[in-house]
Amino acid sequence: MKRIELDYSKVLPFVDTDEINGQREAGRAALEALREGTCKGNDFLGWMDLPAEIGEEELAAVEECAGRLRERAEVVVVVGIGGSYLGAKAVVEAMSDSFGAFSGPRVIFAGNNVSEDYMYELLRYLKGKVFGICVISKSGTTTEPAVAFRLLREQLEAQAGKEEARKLIVAITDKAKGALRVSAEREGYATFVIPDNVGGRYSVLTPVGLLPVALAGFDIRSLVAGAVDMRACPGDLSLDYAAVRNALYRKGFTTEITVNYNPKLHYVAEWWKQLFGESEGKENKGIFPASVDFTTDLHSMGQYIQQGRRDLFETVISVERPRYELLVPEDAENLDKLNFLAGKRVDEVNKMAELGTRMAHVEGGVPNIRIVMPELTEYCLGQLFYFYELACAISGGILGVNAFDQPGVEAYKRNMFKLLGKQE
Ligand code: PA5
Repeated sequence: MKRIELDYSKVLPFVDTDEINGQREAGRAALEALREGTCKGNDFLGWMDLPAEIGEEELAAVEECAGRLRERAEVVVVVGIGGSYLGAKAVVEAMSDSFGAFSGPRVIFAGNNVSEDYMYELLRYLKGKVFGICVISKSGTTTEPAVAFRLLREQLEAQAGKEEARKLIVAITDKAKGALRVSAEREGYATFVIPDNVGGRYSVLTPVGLLPVALAGFDIRSLVAGAVDMRACPGDLSLDYAAVRNALYRKGFTTEITVNYNPKLHYVAEWWKQLFGESEGKENKGIFPASVDFTTDLHSMGQYIQQGRRDLFETVISVERPRYELLVPEDAENLDKLNFLAGKRVDEVNKMAELGTRMAHVEGGVPNIRIVMPELTEYCLGQLFYFYELACAISGGILGVNAFDQPGVEAYKRNMFKLLGKQE
């Protein structure tokens, strides 16, 4: 099967090969430290071997649980935030029909905000429906999913009865500790474990990502197979990407914009932002991860990227083959003067927009990296996830930070709890 590819030729006008090679050397040392388990944060390296270690038993258990819920429920609410949300959301969005032709229950997400309106509307939408809850929290104590779970469970028990509700709830959490583990055991919910040595943002290939993807009816075996395939490649792709972005960073390109030309990839970029932002942004260091959806945002952010501050570089994720084929029709009147496009595939217009934008942005001073995905499938997404995870860990190593902790996210929580009157 074809692998994703990386093209950084459009970075070379901005950094020379020696500079990239220097960062590649540092990256090699970081990769070695990851493989030997001597890097910072080395108690969180479980993700490295995860794809190859997921056994038949675990995959079958996830599929069986998803199948059971798919039969019973018309909607499943996946409750989680950050690493307990974005990977699953990325795959479900990428694989779903944009206009909601579901082949099973509708999978929706909650617990990733504390908006009263969002929760109210969700509960109103679920009124009278048979719904399931897949609640995901490694710590089992995160405020956003915990509040959402309280509300959802209350409504589910009121609608379905306590006994039936138990069969419609699945919890994914730590094997022993945390409030969610305690209530899952007490109530007898089905449970899956998030391994101790896998942090939230590296957990997409654990039940955290796999169960919601299976609930939505997508192929978790292909997702895992893609990651296994990427893990088997010698690491050069991830190493190159990490080296190139660090060479750019040292030259003052401090913001990386991940670009897609397919709105289905919007949440892949959100997942990527969390991965790199939480892993690298510490000790006053790190490339700021941003994202845009093109061509949509060419009509808004395109101006800034072309002519604003010159501290940006772009990484385009380009999907080589769309799923479907559609031609631009001829128009007898040709009022819009677009008949020169008639008979061309819509994707050809998209690809030429991509190429034209790439040329313009490079000319305007924005270095450009390009990742090519052969097609938008579970298999390619699995490759992409593993490629990025490894690159992020290497990149963190080059920067000299611990890519597996997130001490900075505690500050807002302390203030919020104090303001809400929590007793110490
Ligand atoms: O990457 C991380 O570790 C975080 O983003 C967590 O995933 C997020 O805070 C959710 O944590 P938990 O799964 O403990 O509810």
